[in-house]
Amino acid sequence: MPTVTIDGAIHETAAGERLIDVINRTGGKIPQVCYHPQLGPVQTCDTCMVDVDGRLVRACATTVAAGLTVQTRSAGASAAQREAFDRILGNHVLYCTVCDNNNGNCTIHNTTKLLAVEHQTIPYKPKPYAVDDTNPFYRYDPQQCILCGRCVEACQNLEVNETLSINWEDPHPRVLWDGGATIGESSCVSCGHCVTVCPCNALMEKSMLGHAGCFTGLSKPVLSGMIDVVKAIEPETGYGTIMRVSEAEKAMRESRIRRTKTVCTYCGVGCSFDVWTKDRHILKVAPLDGPANGISTCIKGKFAWDHINSGDRLTTPLIREGDRFRDATWEEALSLVARRLTDIKATHGPDSIGVIASSKCTNEESYLTQKLARAVIGTNNIDNCSRYCQSPATVGLFRTVGYGGDSGSISDIAQADLVVIVGSNTAESHPVLATRVKRAHKLHGQKLIVSDLRENEMARRADVFLHPRPGTDLIWLSAVSRYLIENGLAKTDFIDRWVNGFEEYRKSLEPFTLAMASERSGLPVDTLKQVAHMIADAEKVCILWAMGVTQHSQGSDTSTAISNLLLITGNYMRPGTGAYPLRGHNNVQGASDNGSMPNSLPGYQSVDDPDVRTRFEAAWGVPLPSSTGLDNHEMVEAIHQGKLKALYLAGEEMSIVDSNANYVSDAFAKLEFFIVQDIFFSATCAYADVVLPAAPSLEKEGTFTSTERRIQRLYEVLEPLEGSRPDWRIIQDVANHLGADWHYQHPAEIMAEIASLTPMFAGVSYERLEGYQTLQWPVAADGNDEPLLYTKEFAFPDGKARLFPLQWVEAPEQPDAEFDLHLNNGRLLEHFHEGNLTYRTDGIREKTPDTFLEVSPQLARERGIQSGTWVQLTSRYGKVRVRAVVTDRVHGKELYMPMNSVEIPVNRLTSSHTDPVTHTPAYKDTSVRLTVLPDIGDDPLPRTNSRWGHPTPQRGVEVERKWKRPDYRAPGSQLVQIQARQAT
Ligand code: SF4
Ligand code: SF4
Ligand code: SF4
Ligand code: FES
Repeated sequence: MPTVTIDGAIHETAAGERLIDVINRTGGKIPQVCYHPQLGPVQTCDTCMVDVDGRLVRACATTVAAGLTVQTRSAGASAAQREAFDRILGNHVLYCTVCDNNNGNCTIHNTTKLLAVEHQTIPYKPKPYAVDDTNPFYRYDPQQCILCGRCVEACQNLEVNETLSINWEDPHPRVLWDGGATIGESSCVSCGHCVTVCPCNALMEKSMLGHAGCFTGLSKPVLSGMIDVVKAIEPETGYGTIMRVSEAEKAMRESRIRRTKTVCTYCGVGCSFDVWTKDRHILKVAPLDGPANGISTCIKGKFAWDHINSGDRLTTPLIREGDRFRDATWEEALSLVARRLTDIKATHGPDSIGVIASSKCTNEESYLTQKLARAVIGTNNIDNCSRYCQSPATVGLFRTVGYGGDSGSISDIAQADLVVIVGSNTAESHPVLATRVKRAHKLHGQKLIVSDLRENEMARRADVFLHPRPGTDLIWLSAVSRYLIENGLAKTDFIDRWVNGFEEYRKSLEPFTLAMASERSGLPVDTLKQVAHMIADAEKVCILWAMGVTQHSQGSDTSTAISNLLLITGNYMRPGTGAYPLRGHNNVQGASDNGSMPNSLPGYQSVDDPDVRTRFEAAWGVPLPSSTGLDNHEMVEAIHQGKLKALYLAGEEMSIVDSNANYVSDAFAKLEFFIVQDIFFSATCAYADVVLPAAPSLEKEGTFTSTERRIQRLYEVLEPLEGSRPDWRIIQDVANHLGADWHYQHPAEIMAEIASLTPMFAGVSYERLEGYQTLQWPVAADGNDEPLLYTKEFAFPDGKARLFPLQWVEAPEQPDAEFDLHLNNGRLLEHFHEGNLTYRTDGIREKTPDTFLEVSPQLARERGIQSGTWVQLTSRYGKVRVRAVVTDRVHGKELYMPMNSVEIPVNRLTSSHTDPVTHTPAYKDTSVRLTVLPDIGDDPLPRTNSRWGHPTPQRGVEVERKWKRPDYRAPGSQLVQIQARQAT
């Protein structure tokens, strides 16, 4: 450990540590306007100048070396810091008392105080630019922009959307979007990174403006007048007095603004952040240092929260009367639920009732839902929507390595030498996780292979883009495995030591020659060889996959093929390696983990294991059913067959997100009794007999488990809207009306019960999850968790992994003369799933108002289609009308339709074919016929959609261009400008 001396004190440092981090860590106080630890040094502000062994250097750009002597307050350093900050004030008006950013975290305000600036020597010079407020969520005020470039660095190298730059050579530099477009018409994806890192009020969330401050809601003329007054008195009074007034105003805000930690309610990445609220107004989402996301968010986590205060939230239970619903009291609704379920159970038995948990709900709620099904109703007919996407991936991992979860963390993906993405539009479905791959690829030489039907963003960035024929991923994966083994490229040491079943597996690969793979998948043999060699050459490989794999009729087998490939190449058991099925919903991992599955109690403990049942029976005080129940898919069938009479569905828009939606809706219409619990009157509610109004994630406490197996706490940001209740309370109310005697006062008690019954969660407690602390399961009783699985052994009794032999089977649903086109479907960045939550945010609706159909230029030419043309798609199961978008993201006779529509659900077209192992619908195996309709509408993607933009990739903020300006002079009279010299 090198030691350094800072202001006379000796400190130990870590090798490679930045000097600025050492100073900050050891309590030093130096200005550092452009430095952000998660961005690294951007070196634009020059305020962090310190004296190192007699030379002035930027502390942010200096790596410690043994024996450095550092003076942070020498005359030279202090003068340089002050001079640099004065230049910054020349770009910024200090009107803190009437600024919405005066919340204790404004870097300019705090640095003015730190340096005790009384008067600025460089007067403020206005810039010839207007405010840009063309983005619905944030605005840019060039007048206040200090040109620190943090936003550029964040956009270029953390989010890697590459929209922002600074025109350093211009007489009046400013931040540019796409090199000079308005924000609204640029490639900006509204992820909010730039706004989050801006150290002042130049970039601000519109939801803050006029709301955060005590006086900022004043009219513009009054506000401008106050700003002018402040500017006029400054030369007289100095900033000290003005700062004292603004400090008092800031203190007044503290009692009005709450900052509450939560976890994102949308996808499985598991971003966490503080939510700032004033009464029920959401001021902003402030990511700080989330274990999964750092300061990153996507448009949904940062801005898509208008559903919380939406006027159409359900706030009273509803009871069906004929074709209508009437408002009911909670007591009325709960009594009716209890009476009808009791009658149906008495007449038809407990297995005539099904329960479906929500993967939007918490772990504790999933636990209670399955407990209600098993211990109160007496059935194992309990499932959740992982059936629709993730179950095949879980099976693939159960078969081969033992745990049904990602084998490492997002940080492992970032440090891999090679990332292979199969069937995942990661940049849109798991945006923040994708940023880690994009960053590693852009900055750190990581290689990227993408296999997908569409040329999505990750495919465009990839070193190798594979476009196999639909449903043939298993073939090329197996052919690459065979080639590796045949050519001595498999890791035999690893296989010998850690893997069972090699010979049988090797034999099963015999049909998968490169020639066969090429013929079936359409991928050239040379490309397959290239892929094999890239995998063999890489020290650390991670494979990521999602619904493009799992929602096929061989989803489980293809997931298994991925894990097989990782095993034969030794890509498990080490940091930077492993299998990463990307979980879709925020808590789809946790819903299954906590027992909302027909075959397993919490922690994947089998319902047919008598020892397991005995443990749960003792704790719950009731006998438990022992045979596997019905899954979602089987429940729909059982309704049609008249076997399932009642269904309790919590927080799932199942009538349109399940495959073959017409068939599912017909089933719901046949139910004798149907309970739907949701926060809005969803399309599914239309079939209900009773609707129970629940509360969204911001209105409850609990935990979610993300794709990394990371368990995180969410806190109540707002009280439940009057009339609604958190799901765990509703489930408890239902259970108690059915005769249970539950008395949970807080989800912490439920988690304690889960931990006591589930070895996998033995050490999980709310104390260990306090604030931003997290645990990645399995968690031992002493609290030790496993961010990286299999570091000691695989999760099988002998500690060895298992290769699983496979065969390829052609999907039953194939195009033919009548249904001649292949229809793919999936997520879209701006919306989550069908969009019930995200459509309620106006800005998102403005950017992406509707779903659409992506048509290739070739097909468009052939059929006379242009963007905006209405077409009818007809499958063997239903039809929809939708507008076309002509794009080269799709090729030939392959179509793509995002799933974000309640009015035009793609699942009216999808089939009831399933993966035979898990019953996951084969959503992606759909054939359709396309009829061009006479109507031509607007392009479904408005000009303000980011897909129209033209990003301007560059290496970052490119400060060297600033240093080359003729008017640039490094601050400090005796500066030796080490970094500048190095750069030029
Ligand atoms: S994509 Fe847009 S919101 Fe995100 S960092 Fe870039 S400019 Fe900012
Ligand atoms: S807009 Fe960008 S360059 Fe300007 S102050 Fe904010 S982060 Fe710095
Ligand atoms: S939707 Fe996913 S990537 Fe976006 S903020 Fe939420 S958790 Fe993060
Ligand atoms: S903090 Fe070091 S140059 Fe800005």
